[in-house]
Amino acid sequence: MNWAIIFGASGDIGSQIARDLAQKGWSLYLHYHQNQKRVAALMSELSSTYPKQDFLTLSYDLTDDSQLDKLSGAIFGKLNAVVFAQGTTYYGLFADLDPQNLDTMVKMQVLTPLKIVQKLENKLAQAEFGRVVFIGSVYGGAGSAMEVGYSTVKGALSAFARAYAKEVASLGITVNVVAPGAVDTEMNQIFSADEKADVEAEIPVGRFSFPAEISYWVLCLLEPRSSYLTGQTLYATGGWLK
Ligand SMILES: NC(=O)c1ccc[n+]([C@@H]2O[C@H](COP(=O)([O-])OP(=O)(O)OC[C@H]3O[C@@H](n4cnc5c(N)ncnc54)[C@H](OP(=O)(O)O)[C@@H]3O)[C@@H](O)[C@H]2O)c1
Repeated sequence: MNWAIIFGASGDIGSQIARDLAQKGWSLYLHYHQNQKRVAALMSELSSTYPKQDFLTLSYDLTDDSQLDKLSGAIFGKLNAVVFAQGTTYYGLFADLDPQNLDTMVKMQVLTPLKIVQKLENKLAQAEFGRVVFIGSVYGGAGSAMEVGYSTVKGALSAFARAYAKEVASLGITVNVVAPGAVDTEMNQIFSADEKADVEAEIPVGRFSFPAEISYWVLCLLEPRSSYLTGQTLYATGGWLK
């Protein structure tokens, strides 16, 4: 049985990844930060649909790197894949970005995830195949005004994947980023209908993506047969910006 940990399984994209991986027979660690209720409901849904697989929940604040031994210790046994689907953004001019919010983004989306990867590398190397996938953003490649801090952390993930992939290729571990454009999720409910229509008009496919259209690429990368694709950022943007 294959095992993955999904960080941000309580989010819209993370929960879709969990459902799709469970459907393919994976057992899962479902991470959340605050939304215990959502992840508990997801766990009971998956446990009753797939009774022969295991689903465990774990909570961790990724702005905190002081408990990483405890976190990695909670992942006992085999681990094939680590998927980072947590994240948050702050809209506004960079000059106005509260430095604390910049810290939060850098810590929860880059620094702590990278330290977690360090802790889990041996486990991934011991599995028949190992996978690290980050959910990035098209803004990491294209850059966005009003989301400069967010664009920076997402770009850092792509830079990390490019470099680290070279280091762990011989261990059978691939490292990639799936970079969505605009996804129809909670994160985008702040847009008014008019603002949403303006963004849609710029997207060649003409609409926001569904979480399942992002999850699809994560599943592909987690296939054993995807072993020759590493260090890449896959832009799933409907042709928008990249
Ligand atoms: N939605 C989009 O249009 C879009 C586009 C491009 C890229 N993305 C990226 O896709 C990923 C998922 O986005 P989404 O739309 O699914 O977001 P979401 O529904 O808002 O989920 C965000 C996730 O991040 C977790 N999280 C928040 N603060 C955390 C912290 N301090 N420590 C650990 N986890 C924390 C949340 O946990 P709790 O809820 O349990 O607190 C939740 O699981 C993010 O990396 C985002 O940047 C999204």
